[in-house]
Amino acid sequence: MSHFLDINGTDAGDLRAMIDQARSMKEARAGRPRGAPDDAQPLVGRMVALIFEKPSTRTRISFDVGVRQMGGQTMVLSGQDMQLGHGETIADTARVLSRYVDLIMIRTFEEATLHEMAEHATVPVINGLTNRTHPCQIMADILTYEEHRGPIRGRKVVWSGDGNNVCASFIHAAGQFGFDFTFTGPPTLDPEAVFVAEARARGVTVEIDRDPLRAVAGADLVVTDTWVSMHDPQSARERRHNQLRPYQVTERLMAAAKPDALFMHCLPAHREDEATSAVMDGPHSVIFDEAENRLHAQKAILRWCLGV
Ligand code: CP
Repeated sequence: MSHFLDINGTDAGDLRAMIDQARSMKEARAGRPRGAPDDAQPLVGRMVALIFEKPSTRTRISFDVGVRQMGGQTMVLSGQDMQLGHGETIADTARVLSRYVDLIMIRTFEEATLHEMAEHATVPVINGLTNRTHPCQIMADILTYEEHRGPIRGRKVVWSGDGNNVCASFIHAAGQFGFDFTFTGPPTLDPEAVFVAEARARGVTVEIDRDPLRAVAGADLVVTDTWVSMHDPQSARERRHNQLRPYQVTERLMAAAKPDALFMHCLPAHREDEATSAVMDGPHSVIFDEAENRLHAQKAILRWCLGV
């Protein structure tokens, strides 16, 4: 049984195999209706619980569709509608769910909740986002980059904005997939130093540069995300906007990257805040391929977790 909790805690060879499998599974069903089953049905007889303690569009729908395409069944659960949201412990919830379902995907707040679920579940657990990381998103992003530009190994990825949970998983991926990473943003919103140090220890260059134009020089990929994450207090909104405005991804910023650089955003976006619509809808942008690839990447993650 394998949990998929974080990119930095998963074997690099397994991560590579998941990306390759996701790509071949995507290619195998090209042109089919979304609801059509895959030729292979590895999840027949499997029941998957999708638990959300925070809102979601992409994660909820892509997991649900992906499981069904592979022959499995899902139940989408709100944390508030479960006893979990009313005092039942995470450990007891994990033990009970493990008697009903074959896999648990959870989107939650604290990373400790995810780890406690994994510790007490007797079925695999997938991290569908915590305040600290979002590994499924970055698996989709690696798949997207490689579909458009070939291997990501040795490339330069620049993150402009808030060093949030998505940024953290990108730094994990830098160490595991072997690409260089530059963060550009205000010092108060730096990514966690432990993640930077860990990626560097794996032999990749991770830099922090406060000057966004200088940071994106030579970039193969420019990435950003919302300036106020789901777990950030709304009272911090104005301060964050003032701090992050210089790091908005504009056409001028993209012009300072390599001519064939890609632009990514995991969505949902606040257009004209972290990125302009001209960039989001422009020639560098692959944001909707990223969204689609959540489906394909997660299907490979599900198969890896279940060993099917
Ligand atoms: N990118 C992402 O995780 O989207 P949702 O919040 O809609 O799931």
